[in-house]
Amino acid sequence: MEERIVITRPIPQAPLNWLREEMTGADVAVHDRDDLSTSELLKLCVDGTSGMIVTLADNLSRSTIERLPESVKVISTYAVGFNNIDLEACRERGIAVTNTPDVLTDATAEVAVGLILACARSFIPGDALTRRGEFNGWQPLLHLGHQVYGVKVGIVGAGRIGQRVAHTMHHGFDCPILYHSRSRKLQFDESCRAEKVTLEQLIEESDIISLHCPLTAETRHLLGASEFAAMQDHTIVVNTARGPCIDEAALVEVLRSGQIAGAGLDVFENEPELAPGLAELDNVVVLPHIGSATYRTRDAMGWLCVRAVAAELRGDTAKNRLV
Ligand code: NAP
Ligand code: GLV
Ligand code: GLV
Repeated sequence: MEERIVITRPIPQAPLNWLREEMTGADVAVHDRDDLSTSELLKLCVDGTSGMIVTLADNLSRSTIERLPESVKVISTYAVGFNNIDLEACRERGIAVTNTPDVLTDATAEVAVGLILACARSFIPGDALTRRGEFNGWQPLLHLGHQVYGVKVGIVGAGRIGQRVAHTMHHGFDCPILYHSRSRKLQFDESCRAEKVTLEQLIEESDIISLHCPLTAETRHLLGASEFAAMQDHTIVVNTARGPCIDEAALVEVLRSGQIAGAGLDVFENEPELAPGLAELDNVVVLPHIGSATYRTRDAMGWLCVRAVAAELRGDTAKNRLV
């Protein structure tokens, strides 16, 4: 039986070439379309498949994992978030799972900070107005937004990306930092003069709220109608974590009514679908999940994935092994 490594989406060429050389004799099969259903994924993973490189768009639930051939030894996800993979089912099957932390921290933090600025100063409607030829000259009351320097930033999930965003906002924009996380981060408290608070306090006091927690049972719909109701009318919410951390239908309502000032979203509850009404609002900025999408970062993620697969198939323990 031929050994096979399945890659569910096209990845950068250099790491792909390296994997093909490293795994001489194996069939390294790249699925070259963006859409891939679970049944198609299972069809690609024929007997003999030992390694898989998957993305966050692949649903590796328990039932999918249980239907993979016995030969699968490693699943490497091209992402840091792993809410789409049932780790317990992988552990039971003896399948190693790896992810790509650290190399995407800066790229994702950049998108969060960019969304903060784009929302606060409404870059997108300003761009549209200018392109429409409706910029008729400087006016004291044209296109006013909210200042970012010095306002209170609330970070939900003070991990790698959350702390990076906080650092930029504190040291670059003089913003006081509040954070909500399960544990206190002493070094972070010191380096950003960050204050650990309850989620309720963060919601009530922050001028800008940025989500950086993983999607788990506790963080699903962390922000919904009652949380939005407790925010200030100039609050901006940014989500570069996972869509389901926000009740998107409730968000559409508060953006529509002006109960909060704006939202910047890189992720969506039913990705790639948007909640009805979201795309019609001009106080929201929507991006196609591009947090880690820089050439440098996607290359680095690719190298982590292929090296992890090769290491596990050699019998070594990969760096960034989750189970
Ligand atoms: P990380 O270092 O693990 O940070 C996540 C932090 O969230 C942890 O430090 C954890 O701290 C906190 N957390 C966990 N459960 C929580 C809860 N119930 N309430 C509040 N905080 C909680 O991960 P990361 O590398 O920063 O990535 C964070 C997430 O960003 C990923 O899981 C992924 O979903 C998302 N992401 C998105 C993009 C994109 O393209 N938009 C790119 C990369 C990552 P405590 O243990 O102290 O709670
Ligand atoms: C992207 O969303 C990731 O989790 O890497
Ligand atoms: C604006 O362009 C100013 O000079 O104040």
